[in-house]
Amino acid sequence: MNQRTCLAIILAAGDGTRMKSTLPKVLHKIGGREMAGHVMAAARGAGANRLALVVGNGAERVRAALSTTSENQPEIFTQEERLGTAHAVLAAREAIARGYDDVLVLFGDHPLLEPDVLASARTRLADGAAVAVLGFRPPAPTGYGRLIEHEGRLVAIREEKECSDAEREIGFCNSGIMAIAGKHALGLLDEVGNDNAKGEYYLTDIVEIANRRGLEVVAAEADNESALGVNDRVQLADAEAVWQQRRRRAAMLSGVTLLAPETVYFSYDTVIGADAVIEPNVWFGPGVRVGDGAHIYAFSHLEGATVESGAQIGPFARLRPGAEIMEKAKIGNFCEVKKSRVDAGAKIPHLSYIGDATVGAGVNIGAGTITCNYDGFGKHRTEIGPGAFVGTNSSLVAPLNIGAGAYVASGSVVTDDVPEDALVFGRARQTNYEGRARNVREKLSRSKP
Ligand code: UD1
Ligand code: MG
Repeated sequence: MNQRTCLAIILAAGDGTRMKSTLPKVLHKIGGREMAGHVMAAARGAGANRLALVVGNGAERVRAALSTTSENQPEIFTQEERLGTAHAVLAAREAIARGYDDVLVLFGDHPLLEPDVLASARTRLADGAAVAVLGFRPPAPTGYGRLIEHEGRLVAIREEKECSDAEREIGFCNSGIMAIAGKHALGLLDEVGNDNAKGEYYLTDIVEIANRRGLEVVAAEADNESALGVNDRVQLADAEAVWQQRRRRAAMLSGVTLLAPETVYFSYDTVIGADAVIEPNVWFGPGVRVGDGAHIYAFSHLEGATVESGAQIGPFARLRPGAEIMEKAKIGNFCEVKKSRVDAGAKIPHLSYIGDATVGAGVNIGAGTITCNYDGFGKHRTEIGPGAFVGTNSSLVAPLNIGAGAYVASGSVVTDDVPEDALVFGRARQTNYEGRARNVREKLSRSKP
């Protein structure tokens, strides 16, 4: 099958009115990725060489969103008028006409689709079928097209509105996913008419057309999740829940310990190494990689960050984009790190903000230390050399270089570069006035109203 070429056409021209959103439906996200992105990834996973996305309203937004965030760049076709699923597929006529062995038709709002389900439909084409339809058995079939089989062949798909009472009893339904042999695709689609209850060009009609031509049409069974279409925000949340469940399971089976799996949120591209431990209520936004044996303590929030082997993060830590935490470094509670590299073994244990900085190997950053990286106009860098010690409650005013092995006294406001191994006091010297506390108290008590 690998030698067969494949075009996947993803239909996404629907208005998605039930989402009650200004955002086109297929751009709503599951696990940090657009629903259409999930469908495209499944198609790629099933061997599709080209992807065609058919959009209606919001074509520009879809194009912009998917061309910047998706590695699976689709060709985008616009369906000007919404005249039915067959009409939508024909919006990509130009792509179909290029000639592919297999044409997959998918819906953009089926984010739980898995590549193996699509691959099974392609296998049926390789075995000689002209059309392979993926059916499923929903708990409530109302609203779906019913698959009408005869002696192992699929003879028709009847839309609910056209069904006889007997046909409406059939539980095997059309998921909407179809594989069509490329050499027959345009011929079949061009014969579809719109003489039906909705006055639409039904893609499902190609089943009867193919049968009339003596072509083989088959139905394969898909799982209910692959066929789950998202129409409103409740279904979006349902799909997210199923997706997260799958993702957590995969992480655990690959050697990651999740102490309370149901509380950990993954993104589509989260990578976590073996023997990492993830405590409860951890959020992984897009672009996070966690190395082997790292420990992420409870209530940490990570996005666009790298955590190398054996590093410790949290509890209550926030790693923002560009945070690179190297081997065995430690970011403790209530610390925020942005666009900064924290080298091996460095420690930032409590209550710090480190932004636009490099923190050298073995550095210790005391509680409450802040890199003052923003002057209201631009961002500036702080470089801290290996082995330096920064005392608690220090303000490091960038741009700033603190040399290797330097020692910054607690409470310093450091505005000038510090040479290697220097001791720096960036604060007023303390003065003790013996016995004068009594004077102050007397004075204050006299002035009390
Ligand atoms: C369709 C199927 C039905 C199946 C069901 C599964 C047809 C005729 N019916 O019905 O057998 O059980 O899906 O969910 O195919 N779209 C366009 N342009 C159009 C029309 C639709 O892009 O002109 C897109 C929609 O955005 C959506 C998909 O095609 O992603 C399905 O359209 P929808 O109107 O939901 O079809 P159903 O009536 O649900
Ligand atoms: Mg539908």
